[in-house]
Amino acid sequence: MSFLAFCIFLTSALAIVSSQFIPPYTEECRSGMYPPQGPTFKGAVTWYTVDLDLPPNKRWAALMSEKKDDIVNMIKVIKDLATAFVPSGKLIDFVDKFLPLVVDTLPYPFNEELKGIASSSGVPLGEVALFNLFYEVFTVCTSVVAEDADGNLIHGRNMDFGLFMGWDIKNKSWMITDKLKPLVVNVDFRRNNHTIFKSTTFAGYVGMLTGMRPHSFSLTVNERFSLNGGYIGIIEWLLNHRDAMWMGFLTRSVLENATSYEEASSLLSQTKLLAPVYFILGGNQTGQGCIITRARMENLKPLELNSKQGRWYLLQTNYDHWKKPLFLDDRRTPGMKCMNQTLQSNISRKTLYDVLSTKPVLNKLTTYTTLMEVSTGKLESFIRDCPNPCMPW
Ligand SMILES: *[C@@H]1O[C@H](CO)[C@@H](O)[C@H](O)[C@H]1NC(C)=O
Ligand SMILES: *[C@@H]1O[C@H](CO)[C@@H](O)[C@H](O)[C@H]1NC(C)=O
Ligand SMILES: *[C@@H]1O[C@H](CO)[C@@H](O)[C@H](O)[C@H]1NC(C)=O
Ligand SMILES: *[C@@H]1O[C@H](CO)[C@@H](O)[C@H](O)[C@H]1NC(C)=O
Ligand SMILES: *[C@@H]1O[C@H](CO)[C@@H](O)[C@H](O)[C@H]1NC(C)=O
Ligand SMILES: *[C@@H]1O[C@H](CO)[C@@H](O)[C@H](O)[C@H]1NC(C)=O
Repeated sequence: MSFLAFCIFLTSALAIVSSQFIPPYTEECRSGMYPPQGPTFKGAVTWYTVDLDLPPNKRWAALMSEKKDDIVNMIKVIKDLATAFVPSGKLIDFVDKFLPLVVDTLPYPFNEELKGIASSSGVPLGEVALFNLFYEVFTVCTSVVAEDADGNLIHGRNMDFGLFMGWDIKNKSWMITDKLKPLVVNVDFRRNNHTIFKSTTFAGYVGMLTGMRPHSFSLTVNERFSLNGGYIGIIEWLLNHRDAMWMGFLTRSVLENATSYEEASSLLSQTKLLAPVYFILGGNQTGQGCIITRARMENLKPLELNSKQGRWYLLQTNYDHWKKPLFLDDRRTPGMKCMNQTLQSNISRKTLYDVLSTKPVLNKLTTYTTLMEVSTGKLESFIRDCPNPCMPW
């Protein structure tokens, strides 16, 4: 599709979906939302343990045995959508035949983990691979890293997922977003029975989009839409040109093996990637927080916390920080307005949850909210819902 055609498609799709909604899409900054309760809170997220001392193909077995029905439900929706798009099931045939071959091209331990997930869930390997490749391209979110008056770092995010994946007109909801909610889990990754890192993730996905190494650093990923590169890197990979890294594998490796904010920052800034992305990284002391805006090869205009200059928080949605957001999708201005009202003197996990609960920062795509506090090692997550009236994205 040409860029112009894509823009026309995008604009009409957004117009059709938004015509179902009656303003107000936005609201006054929320307060007193924590502890989570009421209609925007759908439930707590369950903890699981993944033992990194097990061979990769055994690590996910316990989690898979509990979540396999939910994964099957989720993949059924993807298949139905794919069949609506390309009738006759050709697309799924392609996934089942071709993607298992791609799994063998993926680096260790991810290739082995995917095979283990397929065998313990009974989901065909190609479909497990599809589910994993998904997140490389479809994650729209809001992430905030903030420093309180004592120099402690607080990192929060809304995970918004499922844009354009099946709008359910009756329910006014995104089909994939609904099916993903039961898959949200918190995972404690352990070696020698000690926590190495913690993450909020989707069962069946081996990359990482939200995570923390207690007492060291916290990390979230937001999608970056860009003309230069989006899908090209992935196509290159399929065509045997494999010198770049998958985003989700890089974040997983950083959380698993980087031991400081500095090391995490340099790996996330310098590793060649398949697709553009935003990394939001927080550290364990004052001034350690940054937005890493990645093109495939470089880190563009890095932005760091600097309380002395009044930059006590960084808020990232899905637009470059030096550009205006798309007018149909401005979550940055309302998010910043609420951060500014909160003030550095009153920022905490609780007040950050208020910001992340304010529409349209909270919207129909929001599957979960995560709050992380590096100094105490606390990570907590909540499944979200956005009752009408609510922005579709
Ligand atoms: C619509 O939402 C209800 C409740 O959230 C759910 O039970 C039902 O399955 C949904 N319908 C479809 C077609 O997804
Ligand atoms: C691992 O640690 C937990 C508590 O952190 C403890 O209950 C459990 O017995 C330990 N397991 C082993 C095998 O050491
Ligand atoms: C982390 O490092 C260990 C030891 O080098 C290696 O076995 C493991 O595969 C690495 N993890 C990831 C996710 O790359
Ligand atoms: C911050 O992280 C570094 C590197 O992991 C570590 O050496 C240092 O002790 C940590 N500081 C605090 C206050 O936890
Ligand atoms: C929030 O405060 C910052 C720093 O003072 C300012 O640059 C920004 O325009 C404010 N944004 C909003 C939406 O109030
Ligand atoms: C600080 O946040 C709490 C909620 O945790 C709120 O009740 C209180 O009014 C806030 N104080 C100020 C000065 O904004």
